[in-house]
Amino acid sequence: MSAGAALGAEMAAAIDVSALETPCFVTDLGALEQNLATLLDVQERAGCTILLALKGFAQWSTFPLVRRYLAGATASSVAEARLAREELCGDAGGQVHAYAPAYSDGEMAELVTLADHIVLNSPAQWRRHRAVIEARGLSAGLRVNHEHQEVEVALYDPAGPCSRLGTTRANLTAADLDGIDGLHFHTLCQKNSDALGRALAAFEEKFGAFIPQMKWVNFGGGHHITRPDYDRDLLVQLVQDFRARWKVPVYLEPGEAVALGAGVLVASVMDTFHNGVDIAILDTSATAHMPDVLEMPYRPVIVGAGDPGVKAHTVRLGGMTCLAGDVIGDYSFDRPLAVGDKLVFLDMAHYTMVKTSTFNGVRLPSIATHDPATSRITVHKRFGYRDYRDRLS
Ligand SMILES: Cc1ncc(COP(=O)(O)O)c(C=O)c1O
Repeated sequence: MSAGAALGAEMAAAIDVSALETPCFVTDLGALEQNLATLLDVQERAGCTILLALKGFAQWSTFPLVRRYLAGATASSVAEARLAREELCGDAGGQVHAYAPAYSDGEMAELVTLADHIVLNSPAQWRRHRAVIEARGLSAGLRVNHEHQEVEVALYDPAGPCSRLGTTRANLTAADLDGIDGLHFHTLCQKNSDALGRALAAFEEKFGAFIPQMKWVNFGGGHHITRPDYDRDLLVQLVQDFRARWKVPVYLEPGEAVALGAGVLVASVMDTFHNGVDIAILDTSATAHMPDVLEMPYRPVIVGAGDPGVKAHTVRLGGMTCLAGDVIGDYSFDRPLAVGDKLVFLDMAHYTMVKTSTFNGVRLPSIATHDPATSRITVHKRFGYRDYRDRLS
């Protein structure tokens, strides 16, 4: 069971999904607020600024809550920067930061109207966009790559060989940093603070000579700060020591940690039959609704289900697209699944809602929140034919 799923099991048990339409994402506002409070505590103790990485969690109906705890957001595209500006930060003084591997001139012309900090991936991108960023008086940063690897899965390892993410020390000259205010690195994924300690050591070894001329340093995301076994005291110490050593403000930009264990995806059984194994077709899809199950790959935890053979009835759970591999996995249940049964997939708030697609024209899951104070589920968004059609022409 993933750490987020362990966290989310208790929360999911408190949500009554019996009358809920499916498929539907449900985010528990209590669990989300608990994560946000943890992040605020770290921010205050460490003396750093924590931003929400929208690529991981962008359920904007929850932003009035997020705004009470976090300083702003970081965006990977102009669209995310606009969402941050319009829905999270507004005129209330929240910060919008942005980074992407490359920006076109057209994108940059729009981004400079939305962002406070813009991080470029290479000296060439800085040279290309410098004039327009400086004309707006914005703070520019460079993403650097210290090449110290902590992430086992190549798909999520920005520090691996031949990486396109961030400028390596060999590709950087002192002159490249003329006009640059900050250094940014992002090399972690679902990591504890000991990994940050090692990453920081590598960053300082390679780029320490440049830190004194910087106005800020951004430690990126990948910090699993809200996980029960995360060593938050060590994180606080690392940030405090870094600030004391270099006298610069520090930013962290977690995505996953904001919504870890805070949401579920509820699906219904649409059909069951036997073909070598018992099979159930659900009104959700691995490929269209939870693509990380196939990409990462990983096995989501389902409330009340076990590994194959652990409980009396083992079933292969499949999605409703025609992709042969649209299979979520084999799970066992206490009783045979029947049409109409609801299944609750844990830990689906982060990196799932933001990654759905309308492949096969399947309907996107509705988006809802659960308020633990009233036990009420509010469906904020339903999707239909137009959402499919409007992505095409
Ligand atoms: C530049 C950058 N910042 C922040 C994040 C957020 O990372 P996480 O959601 O793992 O905390 C990512 C994730 O890919 C990223 O690429």
